[in-house]
Amino acid sequence: MSAAHPTNFLLFLVLQLCFLSAATANEHDEHPLPTVHVINALPKSSKAMNVSCSSNNIDIGEQSLVNGEVYKWRVSQRKLHYCVAIWERFFASWHAFQPRRDGNHETLFWMVEEDGFFISWDKAKWVRKYRWETE
Ligand SMILES: *[C@@H]1O[C@H](CO)[C@@H](O)[C@H](O)[C@H]1NC(C)=O
Repeated sequence: MSAAHPTNFLLFLVLQLCFLSAATANEHDEHPLPTVHVINALPKSSKAMNVSCSSNNIDIGEQSLVNGEVYKWRVSQRKLHYCVAIWERFFASWHAFQPRRDGNHETLFWMVEEDGFFISWDKAKWVRKYRWETE
């Protein structure tokens, strides 16, 4: 039965490697979470946009923003953050923070314009992800 020992040792090694990679994954999860900025870039002459956000059924708050104003908060848990916005006769709902998409960034920007919601992590490259809806 002495041949069983190297096999057990190998199994032990493989298990160790599994724990190691799990530990690495956990470290990754503890990466600092971003600050989310929602920037009102809607026409200056228009009315305020109201935004309210929540995560895991916890209300983060409601804000009324006019052109140029920014609503920001620090993400405190690696969970989906969901926001709704109302502006004049339009409404929108969007995922303000998605752990997989945004979890490894320090900052996250949403530029809200007439033609939609643009995401950026560096304020240089912007991608439209959502549009305003009407009834
Ligand atoms: C936005 O909120 C304010 C109060 O903070 C309210 O007076 C206004 O009617 C709201 N606007 C919309 C479009 O819901």
